[in-house]
Amino acid sequence: MDSVFLYSNVSFGIIRSTFDLLYQNSLVILAAVITGMLMFVLYRSYISPDFYTKELTEIGFDHVPPGPDRPLRIARTMTSRRLGSKIPPPYPNGWFAVAESCDVKVGGVLAVDALGQNLCVYRGADGVVRCVDAYCPHLGANLAAGGNVCGNCIECPFHKWRFGADGALVSVPGVESVPKGVSIKSWETVEADGAVWIWYDAENRPPLWSLQDACTMQMRCRGRNIFTVNCHIQEIPENGADVAHLNAVHSESLLSKLGEKYPLLLNFIGSHYWTAEWSRGDHHTSTIKLTHDYKLMKMNLFHVDVDVTQIGPGHVRLKLQTSFGPVLISQSVTPIGPLQQKVVHRVFSPNYNAPLGYILNRAESYQFERDVAIWNNKRYVGAPAYVKTDKTIRAFRSWFSQFYSENSISFKDANNSMLEW
Ligand code: FES
Ligand SMILES: [Fe+2]
Repeated sequence: MDSVFLYSNVSFGIIRSTFDLLYQNSLVILAAVITGMLMFVLYRSYISPDFYTKELTEIGFDHVPPGPDRPLRIARTMTSRRLGSKIPPPYPNGWFAVAESCDVKVGGVLAVDALGQNLCVYRGADGVVRCVDAYCPHLGANLAAGGNVCGNCIECPFHKWRFGADGALVSVPGVESVPKGVSIKSWETVEADGAVWIWYDAENRPPLWSLQDACTMQMRCRGRNIFTVNCHIQEIPENGADVAHLNAVHSESLLSKLGEKYPLLLNFIGSHYWTAEWSRGDHHTSTIKLTHDYKLMKMNLFHVDVDVTQIGPGHVRLKLQTSFGPVLISQSVTPIGPLQQKVVHRVFSPNYNAPLGYILNRAESYQFERDVAIWNNKRYVGAPAYVKTDKTIRAFRSWFSQFYSENSISFKDANNSMLEW
């Protein structure tokens, strides 16, 4: 009994002196925490950009009850989902990002599955990135699985045939005159906005527009966010023309989860307010003039003007003007299956406002997750019940239809020819 009493007295003494110590040094501790947070933001902003990734089942399944069989229930929710009718072709014509530039080093080879294709992306000795079909025309080995870069050629791992920069067969071991007319499909490839893009066209036309890098030397990458989304590609850019959803989905503060936990905080949290105007641009482009305000009571704490340019079906540039300087966000949407999109936002800003780039990368990710939660559960509606505020959705669909052409593979055929992804 005595020893229990002694132990509790000692424990109480330790706890009390710890609290006393913390209390006496509370200012120092607060300063240390704030300094730690600042150091972290600076580290992420200037040294190691933040890469934020969310996989397919991570967003939009909060409505599935918890329990040991939750993964099974999520899988069931996904497979029992109605897909909708009159779904447009899944692979429109345009430029699509297939890799991050920094992931393809000189002499490096990358396997990419996208647009119903198996591709081999590699960087030659001249520093140029190229993309060819993955399968060798000889006996069908996969060049991206064990192939080597030799100069600017890609060499098959099976019998070491080499294909040149244009995809033509250039050498066969032990054979002096290589057979003529043997080649591998080589895809038109460019690098822009920190990514590798290929031109996909169902009619095999050369690129209908060129793609230039938007990043100047002053604009550096401050991070990117990567999402796998379960919906048709068209649904994602349509979000920009869907003006009504902005204040319905994106007005709640990013800090609202904290507010749900501590309701008193809600009085000090504020909300986002948006305005948007969508319009057609030159043939393959469309634009959105977007404004964002973060208001707390009557105070406007953070105003941002955003010039959005949609370039073809799978590429968007958002130029943000803030009172702390500019930020560029480049979005790519790449169909990796008929109803599966890889969406990447790459965030760039000048050195002087690098921390803003870091913060906006995170803020934009959390806002984007709200859209993903809807896309991952919705079905495609070919003939919506439009109201007046939806007129830009109708205009957007008519504009987007230019990216489908006579030989675009249908949704049904693309599904039938699908590999197990
Ligand atoms: S399969 Fe590629 S060289 Fe034989
Ligand atoms: Fe949205």
